[in-house]
Amino acid sequence: MTKANDIVVKTKQIVKKHKGDKSALIAILQEMQEAFNYLPKEGLKTAAKAMNVPFTRIYEAATFYTAFSLKPRGKHIVKVCKGTACHVRGAAILQDRFETTLGIKPGETTKDGNFSLETVNCVGACALGPVVVINTDYHGQVTINKVDKIIKKINNEEGAQQ
Ligand code: FES
Repeated sequence: MTKANDIVVKTKQIVKKHKGDKSALIAILQEMQEAFNYLPKEGLKTAAKAMNVPFTRIYEAATFYTAFSLKPRGKHIVKVCKGTACHVRGAAILQDRFETTLGIKPGETTKDGNFSLETVNCVGACALGPVVVINTDYHGQVTINKVDKIIKKINNEEGAQQ
C-alpha cells in the first residue's frame, strides 16, 4: 500500500499537471484512482488544498461516481456482469465460484490485496455473455472452469513477478 507521504507527493504532481484547474476535478480524481487504485483520504485532502476547493466538493465527486472507490481495492479488479443477458447465461454461478475461490464477497478485497470482487450491470458485450471483466480485459462466455483458469493464471503471473 502507498505511504501517506507518497500519496501527498503524487497527488500534488497530478494536480500540478492539470495546473490546479478546478474544471479538471474529475480527470484529477481519475488519475488518482489509477495511481493508488482507490482515492485515499490524504489524497483527497491534498487535492482540495492544492486546487483551493472545499474538501466537501471533492468528496461529493469522489462518492458520486461508481468508478471511484474510497476503500483500498485489490491489484486486480474482478467485475462479474449481472446484467440481464449475462444473468440468464449463468452469471450467478460464476459469482458464486469467484466468491468461493477468492474467499470474498462482492465489495470485498482479498487479505493479500490481490483481488477485489465487484458486480456490475451490463458492460456492453451482451453477445459474449456471461462476461467477466478483470482490470481492463473482457472475458466472454465464461464457465466455471474458465474462472479457475483465469485466477490460476493471474496467481502464477504474480508468483513469477516476485
Ligand atoms: S448483460 Fe452482461 S454484457 Fe450486457
